[in-house]
Amino acid sequence: MTELLKKRLFIKTYGCQMNVHDSERMADVLRPLGYALTDRPDHADLVVLNTCHIREKATEKVYSELGRVKVLKAARAEQGSTMIVAVAGCVAQAEGAEIMNRQTAVDLVIGPQSYHRLPELIARAHRSRGERLAADFEAEEKFDLLPMDRRPDGVTAFLTVQEGCDRFCTFCVVPYTRGAEFSRPAAAIEAEARRLVDKGVREITLLGQNVNAYHNDDGGGLAGLIRRLARIPGLARLRYTTSHPADMDEALIAAHGEVEVLMPYLHLPVQSGSDRILKAMNRAHTVDSYRRTIDRVRAARPDIALSCDFIVGFPGETDADFEASMTLIRDVGYASAFSFKYSRRPGTPAAAMAGQVDDAVKSERLAELQALLEAQQRRFNAGQIGRALPVLFEKPGRHSGQIIGRSPYLQAVHCQGSVDLIGRIESVRIFDSAHNSLTGLRTPVVADEPAGEIA
Ligand code: 5AD
Ligand code: SF4
Repeated sequence: MTELLKKRLFIKTYGCQMNVHDSERMADVLRPLGYALTDRPDHADLVVLNTCHIREKATEKVYSELGRVKVLKAARAEQGSTMIVAVAGCVAQAEGAEIMNRQTAVDLVIGPQSYHRLPELIARAHRSRGERLAADFEAEEKFDLLPMDRRPDGVTAFLTVQEGCDRFCTFCVVPYTRGAEFSRPAAAIEAEARRLVDKGVREITLLGQNVNAYHNDDGGGLAGLIRRLARIPGLARLRYTTSHPADMDEALIAAHGEVEVLMPYLHLPVQSGSDRILKAMNRAHTVDSYRRTIDRVRAARPDIALSCDFIVGFPGETDADFEASMTLIRDVGYASAFSFKYSRRPGTPAAAMAGQVDDAVKSERLAELQALLEAQQRRFNAGQIGRALPVLFEKPGRHSGQIIGRSPYLQAVHCQGSVDLIGRIESVRIFDSAHNSLTGLRTPVVADEPAGEIA
């Protein structure tokens, strides 16, 4: 990786006033990625030719300009610098692939319909050169952080198996700040998991920004990794987070039905229940494909607890779009969920979108959505009353003689017991529930349901 440097952008605009306007827009969306305009093409890290089709021989003019740019690009390469060359505008729209074939100096071609994807395309072009952008992103927000600090050490641990993301959801900074998707070798992960287990860890959560995009050197995806880790003696529970619906493959779904140590809990963010909004978010899945994935997961593991992320007030979200999210929530039924007001992150395509939603509207929608999700979570928790659940004890409770553990469904479970129980999995008969926790009594009776192992 090279140093994070400010970048210079040269735009040559052909044709009409519309193109002049588009060039300004392109400069605007690229500014947060560290690009400042220059009038010297020979100094530019990025050259954009914003073309026009109207006048005769326009295409030929573009090719001859590209010939000159190619010379500049070669000169920069000799000095050890790089130059990205993009062709935008109507010629790009009309000629597309032809331009890339005829002029090898061109790195990307982008038509006027796709300018909102420019940050993604430029980030990808830099990545292919092993470079990072001096992106003007604010300090990391809650969205960008993996839940590293949620459960420190002890009997449960996080293990990062994958970093970065190539999905480029239009609201998200991760593909810019964390860079390209990278999966760690399976052997290194297994060695780390074994070390954790030797130190007394009984439950491991596999972590990644897009963890189910994990692909390993022996050809298996996340399912292969889970099956490999499931063989480690002493490792009683496995979880993974966070997943993308489009990366939920059949092998992973099957693992939920077959791998005993894989806990019946899945955090699978959908973000919105409206196809129109999902498209604007560049989510690569529809509401229907998400519903079908959920159906398949439930067929494999009927008792699975589902968790989700939702965004309200994404640019252009109407009352009807919001209602579609509410309908989806009602239909699916979640055990827990996270929900956020859309927050404008400079540099991401959605920040430049029209139709930004008023904060008061976002707050109203968030309150309504959270009330529904909270009711579902309470219902899910209340549904455990009377059941005996295998609980992995993690830490002493606030009151003396109290101990806290987790159910297979990631619920906190409070009960009476000594700290000697920490690290053990025992059956707990649940007699009370609240929004965020369950209360029960340890029982000598073996759990009457299939989730997890009884130590
Ligand atoms: N605004 C609101 N929510 C966001 N998230 C990520 N970026 C944004 C943003 N700009 C949410 C998504 C994601 C979770 C980790 O954070 O729901 O799944
Ligand atoms: Fe961000 Fe997740 Fe989308 Fe990747 S899949 S861009 S990490 S929201």
